[in-house]
Amino acid sequence: MISKVVVKWLITGANGNLGKRIIVHLLQSTRDEIVAVVRSESASQTIQQLTSSNANLSAGDNQRLTVVVADYTNVEQLQAAAQGCDRAVHLVGILKATAYATYEAAHEDSCAALIKGLADTSVEHITYLSIVGSKPDAANTCLASKGNAEAILATGNTPACTLRVPMVLGEGDYASGALRRRAAGKNGFVFRGDSLEQPIYAGDVVNAICAAASTKLNGGYDLGGPECLTRKQLYQRAADLFSNKPVFVSLPISLGYLVAGLLEKFLANPPITSAMLGVLDHDDRVDPQPTMTLLGMDELTSLDAMLQAVLVSD
Ligand SMILES: NC(=O)c1ccc[n+]([C@@H]2O[C@H](COP(=O)([O-])OP(=O)(O)OC[C@H]3O[C@@H](n4cnc5c(N)ncnc54)[C@H](OP(=O)(O)O)[C@@H]3O)[C@@H](O)[C@H]2O)c1
Repeated sequence: MISKVVVKWLITGANGNLGKRIIVHLLQSTRDEIVAVVRSESASQTIQQLTSSNANLSAGDNQRLTVVVADYTNVEQLQAAAQGCDRAVHLVGILKATAYATYEAAHEDSCAALIKGLADTSVEHITYLSIVGSKPDAANTCLASKGNAEAILATGNTPACTLRVPMVLGEGDYASGALRRRAAGKNGFVFRGDSLEQPIYAGDVVNAICAAASTKLNGGYDLGGPECLTRKQLYQRAADLFSNKPVFVSLPISLGYLVAGLLEKFLANPPITSAMLGVLDHDDRVDPQPTMTLLGMDELTSLDAMLQAVLVSD
């Protein structure tokens, strides 16, 4: 059902997997307006193409979308982009930091600039997406940075809600592609195959963000998927969809850290870092029900339906 109340959203990190998804969702299912903030012209074009090539969106729908190129740490640019907006969704974040892209800049600095930029605007609420396990005193530098960012948001004048989610699986995203390659491939190695995963469907995350924003939920909440299983079990469950029977051999995580450490030492932009590995290795086990109740969500997409959607139907 299309909502009658027109709301104007400010979405930062709008060209990411979840940003694109929420834009299409809002244009398709509401009459709301969107200011999508990205940090490059190429990202701006990605969004314009995303909506103009979508057969389910009309030219009128596309007129409700404005794309703004800005620096996420520039208070004045964020303030200008937010004029007339009611809600903000902050989706800026990185899993891998490099010498040129630090966790501090992407997480803490962007949140500090956002609360300053929104302070005297019409924006009444911010929804931020973080990672399960994030807290300022986390040993992992990515999780600590996300925890610091959450704490910074809480000091702002604009009420803010952080949803901490584990692995998100959506159609066409990187994580689903990697899982599909595992599932459809031959026997393979896996670091600490008994680490716990609790994937959540990207569509459910978008619904949760919309619910947090419309109820103006305040504070930080964990929201995991409907099922918690080991990484090996997840791979095998996905492989079942392809009637594939690969054998996944578990390797000690210490070996992964050794490899990541060496890559970090010799490469400016290594494919994997120790902090990234630590996030992926985190044991995700949260009870989603309390947050679902707060958000008014009755159910989450089951793991089997999620895997079918992102690995087979897509
Ligand atoms: N997807 C998941 O599994 C997952 C799980 C837990 C939490 N989250 C959180 O959810 C949020 C959105 O996730 P997503 O999957 O949509 O992420 P995504 O596809 O990786 O998009 C991330 C966004 O952040 C921007 N960005 C990347 N590096 C940056 C930097 N150094 N400085 C400033 N901006 C930078 C990207 O812009 P460019 O394209 O210009 O680089 C993009 O707009 C993130 O904060 C993430 O931490 C995601």
